[in-house]
Amino acid sequence: MAVETTFSIIKPDAVKRNLIGSIYQRFEAAGLKLVAVKMIQLDQAKAAGFYAEHLGRPFYEPLIDFMTSGPIVVQVLQGENAIAKNREIMGKTNFEEAEPGTIRADFASSVRENCVHGSDSVESAQREIAYFFSADEIFAAKS
Ligand code: TYD
Ligand code: MG
Repeated sequence: MAVETTFSIIKPDAVKRNLIGSIYQRFEAAGLKLVAVKMIQLDQAKAAGFYAEHLGRPFYEPLIDFMTSGPIVVQVLQGENAIAKNREIMGKTNFEEAEPGTIRADFASSVRENCVHGSDSVESAQREIAYFFSADEIFAAKS
């Protein structure tokens, strides 16, 4: 299996609820290494660009409002099969359908306020990492 890098966000709900450490612990326990990290607050334009694929969907406007409502933590995770592994430990988008023991099943409070984002493909991981990090901010081992 290939060593991959993937992009992750700890969303405003999880930052507000003091869950950064609990979520980082799950990344590390799953063998995902933090190779780039920062805390930022999105403005409307940056959030809209990030979620452009969802433009026009009914949940889009409230999603942008939520994502700009407070600080977030963005990170790059590296490990074997990192993209799928991160999606697995996050759990399904709808926390009520997420497997017990996943981040969303354990911590999410609604479909929108679901604590974490994770890239869903090699292409989106590349695009999303580059949207938030410059090459010199990433401490990933070259594969
Ligand atoms: P999506 O990319 O489908 O989910 P995921 O985060 O699991 O990749 O949707 C992006 C975010 O939009 C999702 O995390 C929460 C929000 N969302 C809603 O609020 N309602 C919805 O019905 C969907 C599908 C998503
Ligand atoms: Mg998605």
